[in-house]
Amino acid sequence: NASTVELRTMADAFAFDRNAPRKARYDQLDMQCLALLSDADPVANQANFAALVHMAFGWHWVGFYRVVKDELVLGPFQGPVACTRLFKDRGVCALAWARNEAVVVQDVDAFPGHVMCSAVSRSELVVPVRDAQGQVRAVFDVDSAVIADFEQEDADRLQRLIDTVAERLIDEPLPGHA
Ligand code: SME
Repeated sequence: NASTVELRTMADAFAFDRNAPRKARYDQLDMQCLALLSDADPVANQANFAALVHMAFGWHWVGFYRVVKDELVLGPFQGPVACTRLFKDRGVCALAWARNEAVVVQDVDAFPGHVMCSAVSRSELVVPVRDAQGQVRAVFDVDSAVIADFEQEDADRLQRLIDTVAERLIDEPLPGHA
């Protein structure tokens, strides 16, 4: 039927070569992301961004937590079900939020206060999503089943991409602060 055809075409258009080196896949991701995130709706764009990163790298869990008052609330993601809310001063996502910078954790078991949503996760990378004022409005969390799967290069590439498309991933301005 028509919708199946459309879905297949859409996913085909955003296919990745899983055998390509990671750097090449980031290059592909950069190009595809700009094409994909053309909608004005941030939830739709967060959902497709998570799907695209998941297609590119196959990591165990990738997705957003949105800053809602003084908590991080689960947003669009790919992977197993996850903790709905995360709280300040606990976990990798909260640290990236507090520091307003990307955090790489090579071994989640060695990170005090790590919030274990899935026992499969061995290493983690969290990147802040900032608005035009530089305020953290969400974080993008990546969990890998492989220990020490992330290097500074991963943090830099994902941060650069997210900075480029941030206005497509969040509501501008902050609701209630227009
Ligand atoms: N591990 C994260 C929690 C989110 S889940 O991994 C999806 C943390 O420590 O903040």
